[in-house]
Amino acid sequence: MTTTTAPTTAFRHPGSLLKETDLDKQQFLALITRAAQLKRDRAGGTERPALTGRNIALVFEKTSTRTRCAFEVAAHQQGAHVTYLGPEGSHIGREESVRDTARVLGRMFDGIEFRGFAQDTVEQLADHAGVPVWNGLTDSWHPTQTLADVLTMTEHHPGPMWQIAYCFLGDGRNNVARSLLVTGALLGMDVRIAAPRELWPPDDVIATARNLATNSGARVLVTEDVEQATAGADFVYTDVWVSMGESDEQWKTRIPLLLPYRVTEKVLLGSGKPDTKFLHCLPSVHDSSTPLGQRLNDQYGLTGAEVTDEVFESARSIVFDQAENRLHTIKAVLVAALGD
Ligand code: CP
Ligand code: NVA
Repeated sequence: MTTTTAPTTAFRHPGSLLKETDLDKQQFLALITRAAQLKRDRAGGTERPALTGRNIALVFEKTSTRTRCAFEVAAHQQGAHVTYLGPEGSHIGREESVRDTARVLGRMFDGIEFRGFAQDTVEQLADHAGVPVWNGLTDSWHPTQTLADVLTMTEHHPGPMWQIAYCFLGDGRNNVARSLLVTGALLGMDVRIAAPRELWPPDDVIATARNLATNSGARVLVTEDVEQATAGADFVYTDVWVSMGESDEQWKTRIPLLLPYRVTEKVLLGSGKPDTKFLHCLPSVHDSSTPLGQRLNDQYGLTGAEVTDEVFESARSIVFDQAENRLHTIKAVLVAALGD
């Protein structure tokens, strides 16, 4: 008689991507190169499915447009099937522990994407599933976003990557800001964060970025000064002022704190470069056309928040190129982990 015991800890699959610092510079750049190739293949009609018959679970505790769609379309274009488990769609973390769910999903799926709150949840999934696990955003990191951001910046900058300077303005503690900070540091870029001091990235994240910079030659700046951060920047990036999972009440304090960091035409001109581009991970509050935009208008007299509509809709704005690149970069992650 054979006895099978449930594994307590499986191995963490090397195809997993839980945060940018899971990758070294070469691995990160290899994903960018692969994404650019997959993008060309798609455009040229020469894409070859490398994931035929694979099954991928998409577990979402938070909502999504781009990340979910990019995973689904990337998987389909490569021949894989996906199963979407929304916020109420499974027992994970409620009736069943994350560890048990990981061991079940790992028996059925070839890979698992997770979007949610705690970074610890995606780490636990990776520890126990035995298959690649990809972080589609947590409160701490958004690594599939920064892959798309780097691809987009390289497409819109004529020089080598180390010459690219970008700055993030706004809530410097949030997932996107943290991810951008460590990514620029990893890749040897010139990365700046401008935010009020109470919204700076956590000290350990800044320390990680500074350590990475000593090896990569990156220039890392965290400042309260918008002019210092934007001077010479090729790209100016922002994100929502209140992130998913934060209370609506936060708007009251965030607006006065962050208004000086709003991306306006004047802020972009502060780069001193004629072709500085605007980036945003999206979704964005740039006008009053959404219920949230309308409410900010009614309550605070604000049209748009983190960026003006003028900048968002201008020729400098490359946010939809950036959104499309979520597809090609996520496809690269899937193919690198599971491809034939
Ligand atoms: N940028 C991003 O992650 O978008 P979604 O929330 O729509 O997935
Ligand atoms: N900081 C934002 C990013 C959305 C893609 C959030 O977490 O809501």
